[in-house]
Amino acid sequence: MSPVTYSVQKDIAVIAIDNPPVNALSHAVRQGLARAIKTFAGDESARIAVVMGAGRLFIGGADISEFGKPLKHPTLPSVINAIEACTKPVIAAIHGTALGGGLEVALGCHYRLAMMGTKLGLPETTLGILPGAGGTQRMPRLVGLESAAEMIVGGKPISAEDAQAIGLVDGLGPDNDVRSAALAYAGKLLAKGAIARPTRAMPPPDGDLTEMRAKVAAKFRGQVAQVTALDAMTRGMALPFDEGLAEERRLFQTLMETPQRAGLIHAFFSERTVAKLPEIAGVKPRTINRIAVIGGGTMGSGIATAALLAGLTVTLVERDDAAADKARATIAGNLEAAVKRGKLTTARRDAALKTLATVTDYAALSEADLVVEAVFESMDVKREVFAKLDAVMKPGAVLATNTSYLDVNEIAAATGRPSDVIGLHFFSPAHIMKLLEVVVADGTAPDVTATAFALAKRLGKTPVRAGVCDGFIGNRILSHYRTAADHMVLDGASPYDVDRALVDFGFAMGPYQVSDLAGLDIGFATRQRKAGDAHTRDRVPTFADALYHAGRLGQKTGAGYYDYSEDRKGRPDPAVEAIVAEARTGETRAFGANEIVCRYMAAMINEAARVVEEGIALRPLDVDVVFLHGYGFPRYRGGPMHWADAQGLDGILVAITEFAKTDDHFWQPAPLLSRLVAEGRRFADLNQTRKD
Ligand code: 3HC
Ligand code: NAI
Repeated sequence: MSPVTYSVQKDIAVIAIDNPPVNALSHAVRQGLARAIKTFAGDESARIAVVMGAGRLFIGGADISEFGKPLKHPTLPSVINAIEACTKPVIAAIHGTALGGGLEVALGCHYRLAMMGTKLGLPETTLGILPGAGGTQRMPRLVGLESAAEMIVGGKPISAEDAQAIGLVDGLGPDNDVRSAALAYAGKLLAKGAIARPTRAMPPPDGDLTEMRAKVAAKFRGQVAQVTALDAMTRGMALPFDEGLAEERRLFQTLMETPQRAGLIHAFFSERTVAKLPEIAGVKPRTINRIAVIGGGTMGSGIATAALLAGLTVTLVERDDAAADKARATIAGNLEAAVKRGKLTTARRDAALKTLATVTDYAALSEADLVVEAVFESMDVKREVFAKLDAVMKPGAVLATNTSYLDVNEIAAATGRPSDVIGLHFFSPAHIMKLLEVVVADGTAPDVTATAFALAKRLGKTPVRAGVCDGFIGNRILSHYRTAADHMVLDGASPYDVDRALVDFGFAMGPYQVSDLAGLDIGFATRQRKAGDAHTRDRVPTFADALYHAGRLGQKTGAGYYDYSEDRKGRPDPAVEAIVAEARTGETRAFGANEIVCRYMAAMINEAARVVEEGIALRPLDVDVVFLHGYGFPRYRGGPMHWADAQGLDGILVAITEFAKTDDHFWQPAPLLSRLVAEGRRFADLNQTRKD
């Protein structure tokens, strides 16, 4: 049966698309639409048509899962052209969401009615492509060059009200019954004698995108889709409509072939796959309404803020009244900032603050459904806290720790209910960063894991399952590639060269900029903690210790690897070069940007392969999502494992083997990497959920 139905009600044809979950414009939908439009054109009983989506939204866009496969006719541009060419008027009745090709279908219709609460956008550039079904040609004609460029380059959807204000939609309807609203609107248009009104007949707008193009190229450095989309618009406005469409299509096809498109689509599907865990399929999560947080420092106050923003009731326990008051002030400040960013109304802020209790007595936790511990990173302190939680929490409550590195099994053993214990590793700032590593311990009950994933969804986080080991997925891999960077500095590379090479690769920050942001005391404490396990052949970054002892702890002390006396951007500092030079004991040499990136990425991929092989990460795609959302990895490269596949695993193994010639202690090829190369396979082949 076709996912597109055609029916007529009192002169009005209703063309409804029913292709759950998002009414994507699959081959069957395109065929159905083309057929329905043809029927409408020849149907004397219908004088006007309405195109609408069944279910919860209009159309979520082209079917992304068809990308990279041979194109099947009819193509989307041809279907939209056929809609536009109808001599009788066609209305798009838009509810829920109209994105990408979905909005382009609406642009090809002659009238647009959007229900209140609808989101409309052209997010194609966030997938590494451009609106390829007329969006770059019709949108500027409807809303002007500047508004169109903003929507296409930014990729963010706008509200129905804003869409009306810029001329994208002609009218607004109620949010509850799209069909009735559409029929009423069509009736009104018929009564007015409205005629077909093709967007292509509108004159191209005046304007010049040259200045904007320069800004966009700088803002989206390294990425091709945004500037190419602007080029499609600029060229199209100077051409007859059909030639503009053809040029748009040509540029669209070029972008389709880029590794950036492949990386961004991989990111899109991986983000949706991480929450699909066989171990919790069909498992009912526990009910969570009241959350408790222990410790109101950097992380605790951020976690409490995230929970309040999601409408949960929060009780936060601190050591004394002064610390409790400080935590409350921090949380209030976070909520205030959310109001300023337009994420929260003042009424919701006030309501949230009313549901927050900041206390010093653990007895207040007896009603909480879930607690997240965020006290100091010390096993002794954590075990003491968990013993107390065991005594006061109600049966069935979930006991979570936000530890960055410590053994969650050992923490669970401090309680008489290890099956209720799990790690919830938030990232700083916890109310902003999307990543949440869900650390499943040996005894964690499946419904506790399911509860953690359900909570993550409520908090708007991207949860990734991790197993127990030092640093879980992200921090464990980080400590390895960070060591590779330190080795390069010990061997002659300047920390500034290392940062520059990696920022040029696309990372949000280089490793030494990250150290300055996090504080050099954190790395120092980690080295102290691990000193007992150190191998005699481990090379210690003594320059980092020297900076720590010199009080250069990073941004918070005004100096770390960089000098922050002028601004938070920081400047290279000759004093640091001197400290680094002092720490070098062997021969030194120069490192070019390519070698820096190659060593850094090889170390990251090698350790990530171990993390996957040990089952700490379920699949390579879980590692990718961790790095995209927690470690500033460039999204358009898809994540380290996707990037490794694209480069070719054999080349990476050759590089590691080469590096091992001078340091076979650090550079030991991960068995999984060697095996995949020997078998001619890729990490992507392991992205099916593992059964072992
Ligand atoms: N194609 C194929 N599958 C899609 C899809 C699409 N455009 N959009 C979503 N899906 C799938 C998801 O992978 C997911 O599948 P799963 O259940 O098997 O994991 C399912 O639909 C539900 O998706 P979400 O979990 O994201 O559902 P939400 O309700 O949270 O969000 C949405 C709905 C806002 C539509 C969101 O899915 C979304 O942003 N989708 C992508 C929209 C987009 O980028 N469209 C542009 C496509 S490119 C294009 O149109 C090119 C054109 O110019 C030629
Ligand atoms: P912090 O030092 O800013 O805050 C810890 C808070 O816990 C302090 O306010 C302290 O008064 C309070 N506290 C200590 N013992 C307590 C007790 N027995 N009862 C109640 N409150 C107590 O530390 P931060 O950075 O918030 O870290 C907390 C935890 O989160 C650590 O385990 C850390 O490893 C982890 N983490 C930290 C990240 C970061 O970027 N800072 C990121 C992710 C995890």
